[in-house]
Amino acid sequence: ASSIHCCIVSLVFTGKSSSAFPPSFPPILDLSVFLGYITPKIVLSLQAAFKPPQAIRGGIPICFPQFSSSGNLEQHGFARNKFWTVDTNPPPLPTSSSVKSYVDLILKPTQDDLKNWPHSYEFRLRVGLVLGGNLLLTSRIRNTNSDGKPFSFTIAFHTYVSLSDISEVRVEGLETWDYLDNLKEGQRFTEQGDALTFESEIDRVYVGTPTKIAIIDHEKKRTLVMRKDGLPDAVVWNPWNKKAKSIPDFGDDDYKRTLCVGAANVEKPITLKPGEEWTGRLELSLVASSYCSGQ
Ligand code: BG6
Repeated sequence: ASSIHCCIVSLVFTGKSSSAFPPSFPPILDLSVFLGYITPKIVLSLQAAFKPPQAIRGGIPICFPQFSSSGNLEQHGFARNKFWTVDTNPPPLPTSSSVKSYVDLILKPTQDDLKNWPHSYEFRLRVGLVLGGNLLLTSRIRNTNSDGKPFSFTIAFHTYVSLSDISEVRVEGLETWDYLDNLKEGQRFTEQGDALTFESEIDRVYVGTPTKIAIIDHEKKRTLVMRKDGLPDAVVWNPWNKKAKSIPDFGDDDYKRTLCVGAANVEKPITLKPGEEWTGRLELSLVASSYCSGQ
């Protein structure tokens, strides 16, 4: 069976040619061609280490079943450190779908994993390319516990957005919303500005945000629009220069060309009873520089 290291999914989006990948990775990496259009949107650190189970710095790490270090599991949960399986016979698209090509990746716990987090689940991540070139990630998480027990989780798609320079960027869609500030022990504040601009380290979870967030890059004259569904929160992270130096797989200057804006469900964990399923969607699209909020 084909398998894929979770964050390889993110690597694929960086558009690296498959020859750049370690030879042990399976043919699924030909997806780099399939997803070529996505290349300019997502960034991979030049210092990223390809040493599973270490998470890969860049792309869209999937933080599940725990965001951050708020629970008993490793930072951002284990999903980003695992090998996922490719479903070679995935369920068909709904007839109404605008997706033209897709691949389904599956994560299920091994016996060893159950010692760490004692819950059976199936996480199906559908990576779809929408007509027009948008990327659509559809996640379905099902409780497959046979012991009748529910489980709870938090989740984030920790998207590393590619920038010309952080000083040229503003984020619209989070103004006036409340956020939990990880640099201030998770205290709650309300965003006051018109749009977010960046001059120092930021590490926040905006809660109950609108479904559309725009990351506007004035220098590149383009806007990345993130549309999310079932993911009410939004993570915003940039370590800035000092902290960047302390992260081994993050280049000293990566903070200038990267901003993490993640669709998430963090504040209120999701609980699934056996047989229940949760669905979340994240769509990324590029629009021309004429974008303005409300369009
Ligand atoms: C952010 C966290 O979301 O992710 C930060 O709030 C963390 O505390 C950052 O440093 C990156 O996490 P990691 O585990 O990928 O280095």
